[in-house]
Amino acid sequence: MSRILVTGGTGYIGSHTTVELMQEGYDVTIVDNLSNSSIDVLDGIEAITGKKPEFANVDCGNFMDLDNVFRQYPDIVGVIHFAASKAVGESVEKPLMYYRNNLGSLVTLLEVMKLHQVHNIVFSSSCTVYGQPDKDHLPVDETAPIQKALSPYGNTKQINEEIIRDEAHADKQLHATILRYFNPIGAHPSAAIGELPNGVPQNLLPYVTQTAAGLRPELRVFGNDYNTPDGSCIRDYIYVVDLAKAHVKAIGRMLTVEDREQVEVFNLGTGKGVSVLELIRAFEAATGVKLPYVIVGRREGDIEQVWAKPDKANKVLGWKADTPIRDVLLSAWKWEKKIRKIED
Ligand code: UFG
Repeated sequence: MSRILVTGGTGYIGSHTTVELMQEGYDVTIVDNLSNSSIDVLDGIEAITGKKPEFANVDCGNFMDLDNVFRQYPDIVGVIHFAASKAVGESVEKPLMYYRNNLGSLVTLLEVMKLHQVHNIVFSSSCTVYGQPDKDHLPVDETAPIQKALSPYGNTKQINEEIIRDEAHADKQLHATILRYFNPIGAHPSAAIGELPNGVPQNLLPYVTQTAAGLRPELRVFGNDYNTPDGSCIRDYIYVVDLAKAHVKAIGRMLTVEDREQVEVFNLGTGKGVSVLELIRAFEAATGVKLPYVIVGRREGDIEQVWAKPDKANKVLGWKADTPIRDVLLSAWKWEKKIRKIED
C-alpha cells in the first residue's frame, strides 16, 4: 500500500487526517516537532485505528532530518503538509518566527521531495487568503480575488501558495493540491483525539467548550454591530472529520487521476454561513448547557462574513461536508468533557 507523509500529523487537523488515511488503508509516517502538540496523540490515533502510525520527531525546516525520513521510508508517494504555526495574534507579535517556520518548512520539504522524487503534495491553506470578499463574491469560490493578508500568518499562507505555483511552473513533475479551509471545528466522535489549544483559546469553539466546562467565566462575543442579520460575524464552520476526509480524496485523486491540473485549488467548507450568536444557540440546544456570554467590542482584524462555495470540491473530489452541526458541536463537547474529566 502507498505511504503518505503527514507533516504536523500530531496536530489538530493532521491527527484527524492521519486517522482517515489509515482507515482507508494508507500507511502513514508523521513528522512533527511537537512544538504545539503532544506525543500522546499517537495513542489516540491507535485507539481509533488499532495501529500506531510511524512517527519522527523532526522539524520540517531541518533538511538533513527530513532527508533521513525520506530515506527511511522509500515508499512515500505523497505528502500532506500541515506543519505550521497558526496563531494569528502571535504572528503579529513574532513575524520572523512565522516567516521562518511557515516558509522555511515548505521550501525545505519541496527540496527534499524533489531529491527523493516524490511529486505529490497537498497543502493546508486557509480562506484567510480571500480576506473580506465583496458581496458579489459571497459565497466564495476559488476564483475570488486574493486580498492583502491582514496578518503575517495569513501572508505566509499566500506566499506558500505562490512558492508552490512557482516551483510547479519550474518542475512539471510536481503536482500540488491547495486546500483552503474555512473554520474547522469538532473532534473525532470517539473523543480519542480533538483540538488541544495552547493557553487561552483564540478560536470560538474551544472558548465555547471551555466556558461550558467552567474553565472560563464567560464567552466574549466580539461585536454585534456588524452588517449581518443578527449583528455578529458569520463563518463557515466545517467538521474536522469531514475536512480530514477531503484530504484522503485529494490524495486519492493525485495518485489515480492523470488528467488533472498541475496545481489544483479547492475551498473546503459546508457552503453555509453561521453567525457567532447562532453557533452559541446551536451549542446550547445540542448540549443542554447554558452558555454565559457577554457582547464586547469588535476584535481587531476580524472579517465580517465569509462562507464557502464548495461546489468544486463537491464535484471534482466527490466530497461533501455533510455532518449536521448538532453532531459536530456534540463531538466538541464530548472531547472537552473527556479532557477535563467531567462526568455526564
Ligand atoms: N469569536 C468570539 N469570541 C471568541 C473567539 C471568537 O466572538 O472568544 C468570534 C470571532 O470574532 C469571529 C468568530 O468567532 O467572528 C470566529 O473566530 P475564530 O477565531 O474562531 O476564527 P477566525 O475566522 O477569526 O479565524 C480562523 C482561523 C485562522 C484563519 C482565519 C481565516 O483561526 O487561522 O479563520 O479567516 F486565518
